[in-house]
Amino acid sequence: MNIYDIIEKKKHGQILTDEEIKYVVNDFTEDKIPDYQMAALLMAIYFKGLNVSETYTLTKAMIESGDKIDLSKIEGKKVDKHSTGGVGDTTTLVLGPMVASLGIPFAKMSGRGLGHTGGTLDKLESIPGMHIDLSTEELIDNTNEIKIAIAGQTSNITPADKKLYALRDITATVDNISLITSSILSKKFAMGADCLVLDVKVGSGAFMKDLEMAEELSKMMIEVSKKFNRHTKILITSMEEPLGYAIGNSLEVIEAIETLKGHGPRDLYNLCLKLGSKLLVMSGKCTCEEEAINLLEENVKNGLALEKLVELVEKQGGDSSYIKDPSKFKLSNIKQEVYAECDGYVKSIDALLIGEVARDLGAGRITKDTVLDLGSGIVLNKKIDDEVTKGDLLATIYTNKDDEVVNAIKNIKKAYKIGEKNSQPYKLIYKEIE
Ligand code: URA
Repeated sequence: MNIYDIIEKKKHGQILTDEEIKYVVNDFTEDKIPDYQMAALLMAIYFKGLNVSETYTLTKAMIESGDKIDLSKIEGKKVDKHSTGGVGDTTTLVLGPMVASLGIPFAKMSGRGLGHTGGTLDKLESIPGMHIDLSTEELIDNTNEIKIAIAGQTSNITPADKKLYALRDITATVDNISLITSSILSKKFAMGADCLVLDVKVGSGAFMKDLEMAEELSKMMIEVSKKFNRHTKILITSMEEPLGYAIGNSLEVIEAIETLKGHGPRDLYNLCLKLGSKLLVMSGKCTCEEEAINLLEENVKNGLALEKLVELVEKQGGDSSYIKDPSKFKLSNIKQEVYAECDGYVKSIDALLIGEVARDLGAGRITKDTVLDLGSGIVLNKKIDDEVTKGDLLATIYTNKDDEVVNAIKNIKKAYKIGEKNSQPYKLIYKEIE
């Protein structure tokens, strides 16, 4: 078997055998296949695709490339959630405590932000003292004790994905359905949760730019999950504007706290209720989503969901006084307001551009070594469909970078499209796929 013949085969759209796929994953992980040949194969896959069975084999080989985390010592059905990546997406920090407050184990390995998308670990680190480097034993013990733990990847999970993703990122081969499916599911299934809900984002701030492709991706992820005998449900949701109002690490933690108190943005709250209700039904806690939503809302009203975030922070060494009094979060020194220049309605907000502005203000990474300014970012004041009058506040910028302010104001104004009222109201949840 050799890589040249496999590239040639896929270039002509032929189906790869299990042995060929395993050979490619193993030898690439062990540096026996050079990047230039793997890049050629990725591009052939990009154009010719992989069928469900090839995608399943690829996912399996990627799981086998590293360690697996055995969560079987966690009592009860473990639930997990994953988003394909967006701007201002604080759902994990709201959904996790909500679900855990109802006794459902939520053991999650999260990632860091890269580019215009944020990462839960960075957000958590804006809480002083918070440890995210839990060992597998701590992850299991904490989840058994308080039903929730959120950690970074400590062990060597899916090294094949790390190498492949880095290569895809620089060869314009990220947005392929089979490659995304294998990348996400290999990480999730190496972790071993019983029930998984996936939030597939579509729109200007997401990898999937159109609904058709998001549906195709969702169907592939459901088919491959079934082959692993894993229970997965998918929501396809809009990333045509940032989720919630806050973009930036401390700012998003503050927003998550407000949402857990019941005062957060409706879109973020409703999405968490919907994702949470799916997890509660899958775990067997509830028989229908309506019942689950009632329970989740009850725990927001009675304070138990917020209390669960306090417990999570304390358990992982963080200073929970910040959760009780979010005004303690230190935001960046420069605060600059951005005002509307015309009357009308917000037609759209370019989420990608907003994410890039927040990144440049200090909230995100250009490379993986970028040091973040955790108090920087943007708070939007207007969302799609809101009425705007000239001079109204559109957004507030927080940064320590003097030289980024002018550009940020210009780009935020550019991201907001203001005009006639949209004929259809903004839709957050497009589709549910099971
Ligand atoms: N997120 C991942 O983890 N992998 C992808 O390929 C795309 C989004």
